[in-house]
Amino acid sequence: MSKRIKVGLIGCGMIAGSHVNGYLAHPQQAQIVAVCDTVDANAQRRAAETLSGAEGRANTAKEEAKKADSTEARERLNENAACWEQYAKDGVKIYSDFNEMLKECDLDAVSLATPPFVHEAPTVAAANAGKHVFCEKPMARTATEARNMRDACDKAGVKLAYQSGGTCLDPTSYAIREHVTSGKIGDVHYGRLTSYRLRGRPNVDMFGFGKWFLNSAYSGGGTIYDTGVYDINRSIYLLGSPQPETISGIAYRGMPPEYTGEEINDVEEFVSVFVRFTNGMSFTYEHGWSCNMAGQPQGIFIFGSKGSFSNNKLFLEKGEWETDDKGNRRRYQGNLVETPLELPDKHFPDKFRDFINSCSNDEQPISNGDVGLKVTEIMSGALLSAKLGREIKVEELYEIEALRTEPTPGWHIP
Ligand SMILES: NC(=O)c1ccc[n+]([C@@H]2O[C@H](COP(=O)([O-])OP(=O)(O)OC[C@H]3O[C@@H](n4cnc5c(N)ncnc54)[C@H](O)[C@@H]3O)[C@@H](O)[C@H]2O)c1
Repeated sequence: MSKRIKVGLIGCGMIAGSHVNGYLAHPQQAQIVAVCDTVDANAQRRAAETLSGAEGRANTAKEEAKKADSTEARERLNENAACWEQYAKDGVKIYSDFNEMLKECDLDAVSLATPPFVHEAPTVAAANAGKHVFCEKPMARTATEARNMRDACDKAGVKLAYQSGGTCLDPTSYAIREHVTSGKIGDVHYGRLTSYRLRGRPNVDMFGFGKWFLNSAYSGGGTIYDTGVYDINRSIYLLGSPQPETISGIAYRGMPPEYTGEEINDVEEFVSVFVRFTNGMSFTYEHGWSCNMAGQPQGIFIFGSKGSFSNNKLFLEKGEWETDDKGNRRRYQGNLVETPLELPDKHFPDKFRDFINSCSNDEQPISNGDVGLKVTEIMSGALLSAKLGREIKVEELYEIEALRTEPTPGWHIP
């Protein structure tokens, strides 16, 4: 059995449950040994959930082992059960201060399920303490924060993964990227991505979410930071991780029903973004938490000189010249032929296992600090461009990013 990564969970609110289950699902590779939250009740709840989850899984595994039809399966189930039983012996330590946890607790990694305004500080502290970091999406509120996080982890030689919904960890995404980067659809020059919710603004149309979601000082932004981040992450991966060079964006808010909460709500509900990459590709993103658009295809569309992807469908161009009686070319008849996408014969881990593997095997997680930085440059650059009404160069973004904290002209802020 390889070494189990000892994980400390920081932030025990709504999404922390997925981290608890995410690590419990890999008992031989990881163990949650501590949890931390500034709200004691939240930390207590997730600690108890970790212990009860481990106990329940151990009992189920032992029962299943009795019925296992092979020695190998029985041994694996019993080994899993022993790992889950270890939780009751070791317990789960509870902290209210992540710096204390980093100082006192014997950890290999931290898993951040805190709001975006609490991503940079614990990541840098963990990196400085030599711990790997798994960070919830969005990686950070600003490109400056994301760069600090990436640099701190690189300098310390620890891994930085961020939660991107596992959007790249599947055979289809792998095959699309392979077609794009190997030239099988030719020179890829443009892409378009659209994704809308009819109504889906946290704390406006749907409730039970943290109060920070609608306040850009805490969240970084609205729809692009909350849901757009997944799509942008996947498109960066599919395009072979190009570096954004310039970003142009527009942002809108004001969809009915009206916000009736008392907290600040200053975030965008819809964005349209145009990105030029340094390698000559460009990309348009349209995203909305709340949109009155129907009948418009959603998803990702990639344009290459020899073919294209319309979502997951591959089309290869197989046109021919029409010639006259003397064989002179008269007209090229283009013909796009839907072609089965060959999928790799390869296992894809879930996002927690990808992170654990990267820590154990000294590999980069698929959604790593470099990718997260590019995604954050696009998100932050888009909202700054929308505010200033002009295109932003990524290199200038770092100089003027502080302008994002100023109110957007024309926006009523409750
Ligand atoms: N809620 C969702 O559906 C969802 C889905 C996917 C990803 N996420 C992401 O997960 C992250 C957390 O979201 P959430 O919905 O769980 O938020 P939440 O507000 O429900 O929980 C955040 C928790 O962090 C704690 N916290 C705040 N500051 C802290 C600090 N300094 N030290 C320790 N704990 C601290 C809070 O007390 C709270 O318990 C965000 O980045 C969010 O974008 C949320």
